[in-house]
Amino acid sequence: MGHPAAAVWDSEVATALVKDCNGIDQIKLRNPHGASAKVSLYGGQVISWKNNQGEELLFTSSKVNVKDPKAIRGGIPICFPQFGNCGSHEQHGFARNKIWAVDEDPLSHSFKDSNRKSYVDLLLKPSEEDLKFWPHGFELRLRVCLGLDGNLTLISRVTNTKEKPFSFSFAFHTYLSVSDISEVRIEGLETVDYFDNLSERERFTEQGDAITFEAEVIIEVFERVYLRSPNCVAVIDHEKRRTFVIKKDGLPDVVVWNPWEKKSKVMADMGYDDYRKMVCVGGAVIEKPISLKPGEKWAGRLEINLANSSFCSEPLCF
Ligand code: BG6
Repeated sequence: MGHPAAAVWDSEVATALVKDCNGIDQIKLRNPHGASAKVSLYGGQVISWKNNQGEELLFTSSKVNVKDPKAIRGGIPICFPQFGNCGSHEQHGFARNKIWAVDEDPLSHSFKDSNRKSYVDLLLKPSEEDLKFWPHGFELRLRVCLGLDGNLTLISRVTNTKEKPFSFSFAFHTYLSVSDISEVRIEGLETVDYFDNLSERERFTEQGDAITFEAEVIIEVFERVYLRSPNCVAVIDHEKRRTFVIKKDGLPDVVVWNPWEKKSKVMADMGYDDYRKMVCVGGAVIEKPISLKPGEKWAGRLEINLANSSFCSEPLCF
């Protein structure tokens, strides 16, 4: 066990390097109160986030095959350079299935962050093979921070490193762990427009009520992209009496997804009834892709806090 160069290391806020069963590096972050997070170099994916009591806050499918290196069903996969399935391109982009590097020379951050935290900087650059499918010069950077209060922050930055402009979509496909989907209520997306189906992009407007998930109503799949949503969304788990407060910046859209029973059954990496234990709610750029001219940069930030109550104690604002 060691510690990566581009990560903070002191006695209280610490990082450590471990290997998974395929020999791929994982960086473990921890804070002095017992909270922790684990990030895999496979996909730059956060695969675990635990609170001070050691409870896992991110969902991982019970049917994950860890021996087969591919983006695991759970945690926070990074979707880049597209979200969904664009023609012949890989669903949700190739970034989640690439080996990232620890970023030895991270750029300075424009987003404000507290000082005392455990973090790691990762970097993805295109390989020759990637350039055949997506011929653009880019650097995709990711900082994952675990705060002193246990909050998890992900900051991603994309730079156009070549002479031609390009456009991309992006998403933090955040799988939250919940007691049971019927106990979940999402606040902050009321009256926001959404695509009801990613491929057909049929557009609707959410009603004035918070989002809830009722078995009688959802027959197929709950698959929505909320467009230009407010920058704070609360995911309330009544049974666990806790609320995930999601704050975002530079990420106008929010993906809310649950495969529900029928789709889960045909997914090779989803266990029976697993869909009841998860909901994906994450910041994204989908409706209007980001365009970068040569040398231009883009950044997006997602922060998740856990409030120990069924009710969101903070005002819903960023
Ligand atoms: C959702 C999409 O966001 O992600 C779904 O709306 C998709 O269509 C799901 O099935 C999971 O994608 P994947 O590629 O990880 O199975």
